[in-house]
Parts: sequence; structure tokens; C-alpha cells
Amino acid sequence: MNKVDLVGKDILDGAQFTRDELECIMDVARDFREKLTQRKQLRLVEGYVMGSLFFEPSTRTRLSFETAMHRLGGAVVGFASASASSTAKGESLEDTIRTVDQYVDIIAMRHPEIGSAQRAAAVAEAVVINGGDGAGQHPTQALLDLFTIKVERGRVDGNTIVLCGDLKNGRTVHAGVELYKHYDCKLIFLAPEALRMPAGITAHLRAQGVVVEETSELEPALAQADIFYMTRIQRERFADPAEYEKLRGSYVLSREIIERINPGVTVLHPLPRVDEITSDVDGLPGAAYFRQANNGVCVRMALIALVMGKA
Ligand code: NCD
Repeated sequence: MNKVDLVGKDILDGAQFTRDELECIMDVARDFREKLTQRKQLRLVEGYVMGSLFFEPSTRTRLSFETAMHRLGGAVVGFASASASSTAKGESLEDTIRTVDQYVDIIAMRHPEIGSAQRAAAVAEAVVINGGDGAGQHPTQALLDLFTIKVERGRVDGNTIVLCGDLKNGRTVHAGVELYKHYDCKLIFLAPEALRMPAGITAHLRAQGVVVEETSELEPALAQADIFYMTRIQRERFADPAEYEKLRGSYVLSREIIERINPGVTVLHPLPRVDEITSDVDGLPGAAYFRQANNGVCVRMALIALVMGKA
């Protein structure tokens, strides 16, 4: 296995990884996936505690982080909403983190503000893993997306990846492109004008030689896709609800469209979905979004074990 040193490193941003690190994380994740399938009991982080600090709603990220820690033999403390923490009494993020830092060895957190995970990492001794900072970054989701592409398609190189939906506010795609840029992939950004990928991100990718196309037309993009990565319009990031109402339903992936245009496509979605993939897609062989959620556990196990020096 291609070992790299992630011990003690905070996981904050998709841009922090080298290709060797990505390959190593995926190798370790694959190994854990095998062990989980065999129901092997792992005790790699026995005696260690993870703080699971979710100031924003979450189903998959929080529960898969906590499952990952339990499956590695560790323990978990935490809260699942800001209202259940002293934030509700006016405590600053820094003070909450400094306090939790007295109790735990590793912190997995989600917070509505961009840059919050960096702020936490600046005051914490414990390793901080960013489970989503507002419309900023979501590196662990991006890693499990990459892992899913590798599992579903056999390899990452050579794929055309369409990223569709709210590319302006979607932290999973902001982190994802920073991983895909290490592979020989063509990226197609499919979004309504108002929700395009931030120009700075697109320019930075192109400057690094990544092939990026931008469009607002679903069918020609779908026709080219090996991977179609759908995202939800991020309602909670809109200041004006009327603006959200105008944009919701901009793109809907249905079984009819997939079967007509590109039946071999692999469909990913970080979930939760609202109305952007109809439920009749779920039965198609390429509908990989629940398998993708399943992959979250072994990828997070890999990250926890690697940053704690236990992989
Ligand atoms: C994503 C998130 O929270 O950014 N969900 C997740 O972590 N699986 C995507 C979303 O909420 O739309």
C-alpha cells in the first residue's frame, strides 16, 4: 500500500490532498470495506474519543462519522444541533472548541459559517475534520464521492463527470473538483446562470490544466456523462425565499430521460434529495447514491485511522 503521512493532520479542505494521499485513503477505505463485509471486530482506536459537533442539520455525515468511530472501537460524544450546545447561550465557536478539546482526541464538526473548521483547527489540539462549513467545503463527502466513482467505474481516470445543480452554494462540489483535478477527467458544470460554479474555482481549475465546460442544458451534458453528480438547490443559503422558488426544480433527472439519453450513466448525489432525482431512477443499475452513502462509513474509518496513526 502506498503509505503517506496524515498523522495529526486536520482535514479541512479538498485542496489539501495530493494524489498519493487520495490513493492511500481509498486503499485504506477499501480494506476497511472488506473487513466490514466480513464483520470483523476492529479495535484500532479503542480508548480514544471523538467529539461529534454538528451545529447544522445532518443525517449521513454525522451518523456515518459516529458509526465509523464505533466500528473502529472508539467512543463518541457530541451534539446534533446548535440549540443543544452552549452556542444557544451565546458561547463563541472558539470557546466551545477549546472546551471540547479538553475531552476528546478528534473532532468531527459541521457549522453554517464558511471557514469555521479552520477557526476550530486554529484553537484545537485535537485533529479537526470538517463535515461541512456553510457553503464552503465538505472534504469527507468529496472523498467518499471519489471512492464511489472508483468502485462503480473501476477507475477515476478517463471519466467525464457532470456536476449539476447548485454549484454556487454546494460545498460537496467545491471540495469534489479539488480532488478530480488530480485525475484525467473532463468536468462539465451544469447549472442555472444564478447558481454557476464560483468563477474563481473554475478559473483556478483551468489554470491547472483541468478541462472544464460550463452549460445550462441538461440533455447534451447527460449524453456525455460517465458520472452524473446531481445536487440539491441549497435552500438554506438563499436570503430571499422567492429566489429559491424560482430556481427549485431547475433540473430533474428522471428514469425516462436517463433511458432515452444515457442508460449507462452512473448517478451520484450526496443526498438529501428534494425533487431533483425522481424515485423511479432508484431501481436503475447506475443509481449509486445509496451505495455512495454506504461508502461514507469506510472512507471516514480510513480518515480517522490515518489521522490518528492507526491505519
Ligand atoms: C450535503 C451537505 O450537507 O453539504 N449532504 C451531505 O453531507 N451528504 C449535501 C446537501 O445538503 O445538499
